[in-house]
Amino acid sequence: MSKFYITTPIYYPSDNLHIGHAYTTVVADALARYHRQQGKDVHFLTGTDEHGQKIQRRAEEAGVSPQEFVDKIVENIKELWRLLKISNDDFIRTTEPRHMRRVQQIFQRLYEQGDIYKSEYEGLYCTPCEAFWLERQLVEGKCPDCGREVEKVREESYFFRLSKYADRLMAHIEAHPEFIQPVSRKHEMINNFLRPGLDDLCISRTTFSWGIPVPFDTKHVIYVWLDALTNYITALGYPEEADDNSLFKRFWPADLHLVGKEIVRFHTIIWPIVLMALDLPLPKQVFGHGWLVLEGGKMSKSKGNVVDPVILVEKYGLDAIRYYLLREVPFGADGVYSEEALVLRVNTDLANDLGNLLHRTLSMVEKFAGGVVPTPGEYEPLDQDLISEANRAVQAVQEHMEKLEVSDALAAIFQLIGRANKYIDEAAPWSLNKQGNRERLGTVLYAMVEALRVAAVLLVPFLVETPAKIFNQLGLGSDPGASRLEEGGRWGQFPAGTKVQKGKPLFPRIEWKESADESEQPKEEPKAQAEKETEAKQEVPQITFDQFMQIDLRVAKVLVAEKIEGADKLLRLEVKIGSEERQIVAGIAQYYQPEELIGKEIVGVANLKPAKLRGHLSQGMLLAASAGDQLALVVPEKPIGDGAEVR
Ligand code: MSP
Repeated sequence: MSKFYITTPIYYPSDNLHIGHAYTTVVADALARYHRQQGKDVHFLTGTDEHGQKIQRRAEEAGVSPQEFVDKIVENIKELWRLLKISNDDFIRTTEPRHMRRVQQIFQRLYEQGDIYKSEYEGLYCTPCEAFWLERQLVEGKCPDCGREVEKVREESYFFRLSKYADRLMAHIEAHPEFIQPVSRKHEMINNFLRPGLDDLCISRTTFSWGIPVPFDTKHVIYVWLDALTNYITALGYPEEADDNSLFKRFWPADLHLVGKEIVRFHTIIWPIVLMALDLPLPKQVFGHGWLVLEGGKMSKSKGNVVDPVILVEKYGLDAIRYYLLREVPFGADGVYSEEALVLRVNTDLANDLGNLLHRTLSMVEKFAGGVVPTPGEYEPLDQDLISEANRAVQAVQEHMEKLEVSDALAAIFQLIGRANKYIDEAAPWSLNKQGNRERLGTVLYAMVEALRVAAVLLVPFLVETPAKIFNQLGLGSDPGASRLEEGGRWGQFPAGTKVQKGKPLFPRIEWKESADESEQPKEEPKAQAEKETEAKQEVPQITFDQFMQIDLRVAKVLVAEKIEGADKLLRLEVKIGSEERQIVAGIAQYYQPEELIGKEIVGVANLKPAKLRGHLSQGMLLAASAGDQLALVVPEKPIGDGAEVR
């Protein structure tokens, strides 16, 4: 049996988790459930990253010991995963003896083999990110990742020889294109970190104590990222339990480390080098997903704008939240969270399309067949279409899930659901009933319940309550998950003669009363936008200096650029504007190749309201000059640094 080992990042228990953290874990859960449905031996690991200066400070502020502080939050995190029905096989806490002991053994080994040495560290440290920086890497004197103040650190430290392995890592990345995904993150790692060269990494601290002691020099605690990254192997028993019967033998290397985009660097540079030094195989893939942001930017406790998943589940139900998280954002890109969009999704897809399909189908089986599923007769072309659509959906879900296109997998299932609704309209069972055409009516009713059964089986990895509810109402018991997708998805298994049991609506429609969310501007195609701009130019009104000053023009550095599937004219860019990273969707794909943009400084409007273009969030607009069929980006005449104002 093939295996699948999937991990989430281990979360800092510095605060209760918000919907952004839930997003990572729910996606990992859907993938784990999908691979179980493929009949694989799955191991799904999550946990908490409990050491470090950040946690120690938070505990001091709260006036409790770090252990007491984390114990409470970790309980809440575990409770959240229970609420979201996360199917993890293990939960590792970095304060557990099994982890601490093994991290020390790993440290000792690296030291003994000469990969760790003692020296002095002098540099900068960002405590919220627990990251070391050099002066030249700062942006406007602040942390390039989170934009917050950094602190000067000077202390005796142990160092890990990252530089020694840099060439081997580069060769591995080049030989394994699937290792860093999406591919844009791979370019980012190569261009921004590997090419400029790797310095050895400081891996111990002496100015605080909340960490795992260096085994042979206990005034040092091990750098929290080294401690944290090793969780992926300590949880499997390494290095103590690495024999043939161990979890380590069974599951390492990981098939997938799922991480947010800001921590891809740790997972694709530091972590693989640690593994190389330990002579262990590297994970097969690290996937860096985008963030779920709010209209006003990143969610954070300090901004007071976090969205609590517990409240959302109470308000809308578990599957509604899971569906929204899995469906709304193309995986890999950033997405804007809005409650209105959530309600819209639930009402459109779950209440209208899926809920109605079940309700209509069962009502007709009751009305026209006494509640008993008839035996089908011969299939006609209309039925064959529906069957093909069901087969296609089974195929498409597998193809998308293998590529981690979770949202597209759900879209494929809802295409089947949409087709089934249309089938009912076209096959018109009510007319067949009127005509007394019992055989044809039987075939149509059978096709209706069977399409629903297949859809329910397909939904198993994503929704955790709904597939069982559908099965129950179809009279099939409550275990749609028992069957493997390959078997369960095959058309024609619905036992004729089954008595259906119509129940409560799956998803009652939600009333949404608040005024429309202004961030959701109408979807505009680039052409429409261009036309509007031309119109505007014809009667350009004068503006005052103050009006001009309201436009926040900034230099932005392109970190990532890639094509958007299905949108010939659009490129998705990730840009850095000072300490902030943004996603911008720009209609320049016909003029520029993504590769030529990476690393370029461009000029953009930084205070444009976010909008969605073809489902992708755009948080700004870049400036370009156009004449006839030519287009040229506006760029600073010499490098000036991103974040610089343009006036
Ligand atoms: N402790 C480290 C990870 C160590 S892994 C060896 C850490 N923890 S974290 O709690 O800050 O973040 C954990 C994960 O949550 C990251 O992958 C991060 O990207 C993700 N998210 C945090 N906020 C998020 C959003 N708003 N949206 C999507 N993901 C978010 O980093």
